[in-house]
Amino acid sequence: MSAPAGRPAAIVFDAYGTLLDVHAAVARHAARLGPAAAAVSALWRQRQLEYSWIHSATDTYEDFATLTARALDHAMAAHGIADPALREDLLAAYRRLDAFPDAAPALAALRQAGLATAILSNGEPAMLDEAVREAGLAPLLDAVLSVHPLRLYKPRAPVYALATDRFGCAPGAIAFVSGNAWDGFGAARFGFRVFSLARSPQPIEYGLDRLAEARIASLAELPAMLAGAGA
Ligand code: LAC
Repeated sequence: MSAPAGRPAAIVFDAYGTLLDVHAAVARHAARLGPAAAAVSALWRQRQLEYSWIHSATDTYEDFATLTARALDHAMAAHGIADPALREDLLAAYRRLDAFPDAAPALAALRQAGLATAILSNGEPAMLDEAVREAGLAPLLDAVLSVHPLRLYKPRAPVYALATDRFGCAPGAIAFVSGNAWDGFGAARFGFRVFSLARSPQPIEYGLDRLAEARIASLAELPAMLAGAGA
């Protein structure tokens, strides 16, 4: 992993799976899903991401809320679950996901140290704004950047430039935090300093042991790593 490079111009976070717990929606309705709950949640997330990559790779953009609903339809059908009311409740819950417990304290500590914080997400602006507000994170963020205006998804390179444009800096001045290895890879390729979040032990992917500046197990590690560094 490369050497630390001083205080960044901004700490930019992925949203879903990094600040927001994507499995919180199913967790809220787990009893209605029964034994398949965890598998439905995993397949929902997997298909949601796959759809975003395929639509981005084929230049046939559809927004993330649409793809999220389509992925849920697939996951429910694959498990033989036909329940329109449950579908609506799960989609509503996805717009109000829980933040991981370490998210707000880390954002607050970084801002208290004078650092700018932001989200850069595949989420469509309305769903992202609602999720951030409902999770109580809105007052802790300087910017919430959605890929939507570009009609491309991470990890396509132009998307990461939304952050350098917003903060008027070079890629190397952005510290980027993601719990999604594919996203960390895209960010590293773009030139961001990457902090790869692994909340539980998992194998290294995409060469992030070489590409990332650090691998962290909790967002609580960030303030000491970034706020104290000399400019
Ligand atoms: C995000 C999802 C894809 O961009 O994790 O927030």
